[in-house]
Amino acid sequence: MANASGMFTPTAPCVRRRFSPSIEIYRSGFWFSEGVSRRIVCSSTTQGAEKLSPSESRVPRLLSRGCKLVGCGSAVPSLQISNDDLSQIVDTSDEWISVRTGIRNRRILSGVFSFAVHMVYDAAAGKDSLTELAVEAAKKALQMAEVNPDDVDLVLLCTSTPEDLFGSAPQIQKALGCKNNPLAYDITAACSGFVLGLVSAACYIRGGGFKNVLVIGADALSRYVDWTDRGSCILFGDAAGAVLVQACDTEEDGLFSFDLHSDGEGQRHLKATMKQNDKDHELGTNGSLLGVLPKGSSYSCIQMNGKEVFRFAARVVPQSIELALEKAGLTRSSIDWLLLHQANQRIIDAVATRLELPSERVISNLANYGNTSAASIPLALDEAVRSGKVQSGHTIATAGFGAGLTWGSAILRWG
Ligand code: ACO
Repeated sequence: MANASGMFTPTAPCVRRRFSPSIEIYRSGFWFSEGVSRRIVCSSTTQGAEKLSPSESRVPRLLSRGCKLVGCGSAVPSLQISNDDLSQIVDTSDEWISVRTGIRNRRILSGVFSFAVHMVYDAAAGKDSLTELAVEAAKKALQMAEVNPDDVDLVLLCTSTPEDLFGSAPQIQKALGCKNNPLAYDITAACSGFVLGLVSAACYIRGGGFKNVLVIGADALSRYVDWTDRGSCILFGDAAGAVLVQACDTEEDGLFSFDLHSDGEGQRHLKATMKQNDKDHELGTNGSLLGVLPKGSSYSCIQMNGKEVFRFAARVVPQSIELALEKAGLTRSSIDWLLLHQANQRIIDAVATRLELPSERVISNLANYGNTSAASIPLALDEAVRSGKVQSGHTIATAGFGAGLTWGSAILRWG
């Protein structure tokens, strides 16, 4: 099984070496057992297994499996807010924002924005919901991958802003019409969420016999932005992006390595913590429990020390990518594309400079969308694939970073 700092290597011999000696696989999971009997189910069993019912098809049956990215999609709200629009509500300017961040526009779930700042926009644009965006992105990814929703056996929704406290992923599974009730759940890791989702998908495929895993990054940070704070409200936008990760032979494996971390100590630099509301619950005639029951809660707006977050990202992201490259046995020159979480153009440029990668090999679309948190990597990937920039066989170094603090990178191949 994968360890927290990544273990996958691009070559089939390495994968086999890692897995073959001492692993036993059972329906409910798998574990390592030194010196105990070897019960290794090989890929030769796959074809028969595919004819099984959906639940049976999840029986872990493959050890040496690879996974590859075969489809992507994205969706953004229709309402676009420019830097000039923002300068009407906070003391800022297009010049300040674009020079300091590279951002010129962002898309916002319109209900949120018109409510938050009392600006009048086209009422028809107010229909957006984050779940709808995620569904649209997922449908496009399935379409590109030519995979039927009924063949999806896991939906991972990477989000810190679900529309249901208990998770929005099952609503996506329902909207996609996946008849076989595949598992669907949320992963919360802010702007690192999508990279974690990719790695999780790989683990499910490699260790759990899953075949088609939808990884969706979707966030609506506009709902948690303090629209009076010019230091943060200029940064964020809403969006969704999705990738279909599919099981394949180890020779075709497309996730070469990864490197994941978190540092709770740094939470003070970027957070949106829970707060208790002022008002007590209504208790009807029996008020005896007043003062004992918790008051209703909600989350505070995003509180950020921009300078610290900037320093953190510029320091850890290049290190993480270097580590992932080393684990993959690759060098910087193997990277066709650097695809970072789209937070700030200056962070992207600083990382590219540290890695000595020319700007022609750097993917950036944050001028149009701002920081869309877990959605930013799949959104930028989708645009780059559909425009023909990223092509089948290209090697991508990707990295997410943000609240938690969390950060992680992965070296992967598209297609
Ligand atoms: N317009 C005009 N002036 C501004 C604005 C604004 N929007 N925002 C701040 N300023 C002012 C400040 O008040 C300050 O003025 P002063 O010198 O008179 O006090 C001056 O500009 C400099 O402010 P800084 O905060 O030092 O500006 P900085 O160069 O650090 O840029 C920024 C701020 C853009 C936020 C930058 O620090 C940054 O991008 N940091 C990274 C943030 C990030 O990526 N966060 C998301 C992480 S992902 C996640 O998990 C959510």
